[in-house]
Amino acid sequence: MPPAVVYHRRVDLPAIRRDRTAMRRYQCSRPVAAAVTDGLITKDTNVFDYGCGHGGDVRYLKARGFKASGWDPYHRPKGKKQPADVVNLGYVLNVIEDPQERARVLRHAFRLARRLLVVAVRVDQVPDTYTEWGDGYLTNHDTFQKLYSQAEFRAYVEEQLDARAHVASLGIAYVFKDDELESRHMANRAFTRRLEYRTDLIEAFGRNRTAKKLVKLAQQLGRIPHPDEFDAYDELEDAFGSRQRIERLLLRAINPKAFEGSREQRREDMLTFLAMLPLQGLKPPKLKDLAPPLRRDIKAIWPSYAEARKEGLAFLYSLGQADAVRAACKAATVGKRLPEDLYVHRSAEDELPALLRVLLFGARRIVGNLHYDLVKIATDGRAVSFLRYASFDEDPHPRLLESVRVYLPRTSYNIRAYGTSSNPPILHRKEAFVGQDYPYRERFAQLTAAEEAAGLLSSPDIGRRQDWEQLLSARGYRIDGHRLVTLQA
Ligand SMILES: C[S@@+](CC[C@H](N)C(=O)[O-])C[C@H]1O[C@@H](n2cnc3c(N)ncnc32)[C@H](O)[C@@H]1O
Repeated sequence: MPPAVVYHRRVDLPAIRRDRTAMRRYQCSRPVAAAVTDGLITKDTNVFDYGCGHGGDVRYLKARGFKASGWDPYHRPKGKKQPADVVNLGYVLNVIEDPQERARVLRHAFRLARRLLVVAVRVDQVPDTYTEWGDGYLTNHDTFQKLYSQAEFRAYVEEQLDARAHVASLGIAYVFKDDELESRHMANRAFTRRLEYRTDLIEAFGRNRTAKKLVKLAQQLGRIPHPDEFDAYDELEDAFGSRQRIERLLLRAINPKAFEGSREQRREDMLTFLAMLPLQGLKPPKLKDLAPPLRRDIKAIWPSYAEARKEGLAFLYSLGQADAVRAACKAATVGKRLPEDLYVHRSAEDELPALLRVLLFGARRIVGNLHYDLVKIATDGRAVSFLRYASFDEDPHPRLLESVRVYLPRTSYNIRAYGTSSNPPILHRKEAFVGQDYPYRERFAQLTAAEEAAGLLSSPDIGRRQDWEQLLSARGYRIDGHRLVTLQA
C-alpha cells in the first residue's frame, strides 16, 4: 500500500532573490529543484517541460537564467513539443486516465530527452473515501488520479523505457540517456561526503565571497544557518549544488581538521564507490575515466584496478550478512549505539565504516535524498531510518518531526509523521550523534553534563517531550538555550 504522505508540494528553495526586476517570486516543483541541486540542469543545458501546466517551472528556470520551454495540452497548447537536453515530466502520469496513453506519453517524453528525463509522480496515499476509476480513483473534484508506490513507480518506468531509473527522491526518478552524465552523477553521489576528493570545490568555496559571508554568519550564530536566514543561499546552490554539500563545505571551512581523511578512510571510500556501482546496475568505469585524485588513490592502495574492483564486489556481498553489519556497527567510532540500532548525525556519516555507508547508499536508492538529521541503522542491516528533527542545532532537545524507515531486504519503506503530535519523541545527549569535530559538540556535551549532574538523565521516562518537561519542572529546572537553569523559588 502506498505510504501516508503528501509529497506533491511546491518547494520554495532556492528562491530568486537575486533578480531585482522579478517582482514575483516563482516557486519550482520538487523534481526541478532536485535536478538543479544535483547539477543536472545547468546554464549549459536546455529544459523542456512536458505537461507544464501553467508554466511555473518554465518561468522559474528562465528567471534564473536557464533555457527552458514547455507545452501542455490544456494550459499551453501553443507551446512546441521539442527535444531538449533535459525533459521534465512532472506529475503528469498521475492524471492520465488511459494506461496506454500514459505509457505513450512517458515514452515520448523519453524520446525527446537528449541526456536526461526527470519523471515525477505522486506517491501519496489514496484518501479514506474515494471512487475507484480504471486503475486509479476519482478525486472530490471528479478528476482522475493514479497513485503509485515508490517500488511500483520505478518498476513501471524501467519497464516502459527499458532503461535504468535512479531514484532521486520519493516519487522522482532520473532516467539517463547520456552514459557519461550518469557515471558523473553516480560518482558525485558516492563522493559528495568526503570532500578531499573535491579540492576544486573546497578551493572555490574558500574564494567565493558569498560563501565567506555564510561562514561569517555561521560563526556569529554559532550554528549552521538555515537557508531562509541567508539571502544569497540560492547563489551558493547554483555554485555548489545541494544544501548538504554546502553544509559540508561550511563545516570544513569552520574546522578543516575534521575533514582530513586517512589512508584507511580513502581505501574505504574507494570500496564504497566500487560497491555502489553494481548496486545501481552500472559497470565500473575505466581507470582512465576516473578523476585524477581517485586514480591516484587506487594506484597507491591496490596492486591493480582489477584487485580493487574484486575487493569492492566482495565487500558488496557482505551487505547481506547480518554478522558483518553487526561487526561494522560495533567498529563504528561515531554515533550512539543501542543494542538494536546505531544512531548517527548526517554530518558524521562519512566517518562510518564503509559497509555502513554502502548500506545507507542502498537505502537511498529506495527513497532518494531526503532531509534528515539522524540516520538509524538496524545492527542486523535489515532497516535504515532517516529521522528529521526540529532545529537539531538550536533546540537543546529537538523533537522528532518525521521518520522514513527503509526495509532493505524488501526494498519497501514507511513514513511516520510526528509534526502534529503533542508529545513527540525528543533527543537527549546530542553530542553522542555527531563526530568529534562537530563545531557545536562541546555545547551539547556541557548541557548533558549538567543534566547528568542534576540526575535528570537517569529517569526512565524522558524520551517524550511532555514527560521531560514535567520532570524538569518537578525538579525545579528549566532550559535556556543549552544551559540548565534553576527555577526561582
Ligand atoms: C498535476 S499537473 C502538473 C503540472 C506541472 N508539470 C507541475 O509539476 O506543476 C498535470 C498536468 O498534466 C497535463 N496533462 C494531462 N494529460 C496530458 C498528456 N496526455 N500529455 C501531457 N500533459 C498532460 C495536464 O494538463 C496538467 O497540466
